[in-house]
Amino acid sequence: MTHTAIEQTSNDDRIARPRRFLMCRPTYFDVTYSINPWMDPNVPTSADTGLAQWKGLHDAYVALGHDVALIEPVPGLPDMVFAANGATVVDGKVLVARFRHHQRADESRAYLDWFRAAGWAEVRQAESFNEGEGDFLYVGGELLAGCGFRSDLRGHHEAQEFFGIPVLSLTLVDPRFYHLDTALSVLGPGEVMYYPQAFSPDSRRRLAERFPDAILADEATAAMFGLNALSDGRHVLLPERAVELVGPQLRERGYVPIGIDLTELLKAGGNAKCCTLELRG
Ligand code: ARG
Repeated sequence: MTHTAIEQTSNDDRIARPRRFLMCRPTYFDVTYSINPWMDPNVPTSADTGLAQWKGLHDAYVALGHDVALIEPVPGLPDMVFAANGATVVDGKVLVARFRHHQRADESRAYLDWFRAAGWAEVRQAESFNEGEGDFLYVGGELLAGCGFRSDLRGHHEAQEFFGIPVLSLTLVDPRFYHLDTALSVLGPGEVMYYPQAFSPDSRRRLAERFPDAILADEATAAMFGLNALSDGRHVLLPERAVELVGPQLRERGYVPIGIDLTELLKAGGNAKCCTLELRG
């Protein structure tokens, strides 16, 4: 392939691959406890606003041709809307989360039941702390895995054994970016954008080596959850306000940024990617 051909591929021919997502309606959304710096139980929330905004994301996926399955929300589990945390799903194998905080622990049961009822053959719950695709990001034949706040190194090792693919461990150091998917976003196979300061110096080095062409986001982008973006290979769904900041870099690389308003869910420390669990295989 000539240099020109490679450039054309990366700039003009971004292909959206139809995806299957699992989402959870925020029927019982609320902030009643605080397990990350974004959550303040004194700030009023509205489940109705949350639901309307969530529907905007859901309908955007459907309009883009993606298939969205729904898991029934459970009363008393206000964070269940963040379906990304329920499991990691690669090649038809499902590793259900084990949550660090007791407030979310019961979500695992709902995900185990959902995957079993839906007929997924290889389903089990992680033994070590593992917050699903909040901390495990599939980047084509490999998983990037976050630790430091929620999932731990034993959880990374367990995922490597379970899926039989390499896991690159990355240490998060800023409590605002407590899940890997708040600090790094997978755009396409081998292509990512991230906020370097969210990572330990050693992890920054690893990321720079592994992804020399990554988009590096600034603090403002990360702080508005601009990295909690969901890419289908062409369209990148991310917070409306972040489109102004990182949109030009995405467009330059042939991606199509789509702004989504999820400000209500941001009160719990989540955004588009957090609400979405990709079902692979
Ligand atoms: N309040 C939730 C928590 O702290 C937000 C989870 C966001 N999900 C994510 N994939 N980053 O656990």
